[in-house]
Amino acid sequence: MKLTVVGGGSTYTPELIDGLARRREPAVEEIVLVDPDAERLDVVAEFCRRLLREAGHPARLRTTPDVVEAATGAAAVLLQLRVGGQQARYGDETFPLECGCVGQETTGAGGLAKALRTVPVVLDIAEHVRAVAPQAWIVNFTNPVGIVTRALLAEGHRAVGLCNVAITFSRWIADLLDVAPDSVRLEHTGLNHLTWVRGVQVGGRDVLPDLLGEHAGAMSEHIGLPPELFRRLGAVPSYYLKYFYAHDEVVAEQRTAPPRATVVADVERDLLKRYADPELRTKPEELSKRGGAYYSEAAVQLVHALTSGGPEEHVVNVRNDGALPFLPDDMVVETNSTVDSDGARPLPVRPVEPALAGLIGHVAGYEQLALDAALRGGRDRVADALLAHPLVGQHALADQLADELVRRNAQYLPWA
Ligand code: G6P
Ligand code: MN
Repeated sequence: MKLTVVGGGSTYTPELIDGLARRREPAVEEIVLVDPDAERLDVVAEFCRRLLREAGHPARLRTTPDVVEAATGAAAVLLQLRVGGQQARYGDETFPLECGCVGQETTGAGGLAKALRTVPVVLDIAEHVRAVAPQAWIVNFTNPVGIVTRALLAEGHRAVGLCNVAITFSRWIADLLDVAPDSVRLEHTGLNHLTWVRGVQVGGRDVLPDLLGEHAGAMSEHIGLPPELFRRLGAVPSYYLKYFYAHDEVVAEQRTAPPRATVVADVERDLLKRYADPELRTKPEELSKRGGAYYSEAAVQLVHALTSGGPEEHVVNVRNDGALPFLPDDMVVETNSTVDSDGARPLPVRPVEPALAGLIGHVAGYEQLALDAALRGGRDRVADALLAHPLVGQHALADQLADELVRRNAQYLPWA
């Protein structure tokens, strides 16, 4: 099969290729990396070829700047692009802070800016993919994954959204409990970057009480929230929930620390230098400084389930269709799903506690308005989405953030 990676010049790509190279399933024969940055793409691709060769994997790997040529006849197309690069991310992480709001690339006003820049670009790519590979599955990693995946599904694309938070949690939990990674099954529900682990089955037993008890301290270090909170919620929140449950603390920290975009730009510079060394034949240690842990495993497993029949259970971003009955059917939720060659369908979810359902519903309202703003444009639609966001909520603040967002992103917004 042929696999196309849009945003293939990402420093994450060797992680993905390493994951593929270690397995023979899915049986990938051809990999095409697409990226507008030819220089960077060359360096990344050369290193990826060395990884494949080192593992004795037979796949051919080539590069192109042209999505149409890259996707023709592909079985799966991975979308992992970042419109505007780390520079635009720097803006997303800094302008909200000036108004006292969290500066984050997927949460709050920064996440909205990213959605506005990204949705039109991804939809355009998906149209090209549909024209030359109508049967291809689009696996969307592009943030904000929930909003972008909803845009794709609304246009009838064969798309599934994927994030590494669920697999990262299951690996941490396996480590903590000292059990095999594949023996852990999470009940993981919510919206992308707004999820909670509400059950953990190991060998048919729910071990969540152990995690909320003796292991809560260790989990809390990863998540940046106090263990007592997990017990009160009766669930383990993802590390993105700290932007909600500890918003003001995070803002205070962000005021004195460099933005993540700056840190990542430095890591990327180092990584590209390492990749360019023709002697480098294994994934460098520096790659673990990025947030995408286990992303390759999640992607490889999902592509396999989508292309070879399944059915398998994965946590993915999928059309709600009643799984969370308090949300519209066409909302995209991140939850345990059955995946096979017909795509992903959410599994039933136990009734969600009011404290969780309230926040999910609130952010879902924002996401619907955010997508509307991304598709139709207009400064007032941007302000409306912000007004609906639980971390903004006040009209004067929503107006101020909207003006700043539009001003800073005008070059990416055709309507601005
Ligand atoms: C997490 C998220 C990804 C995000 C990444 C950022 O793992 O699930 O959606 O892209 O972190 O990592 P970075 O190294 O770019 O900060
Ligand atoms: Mn993610």
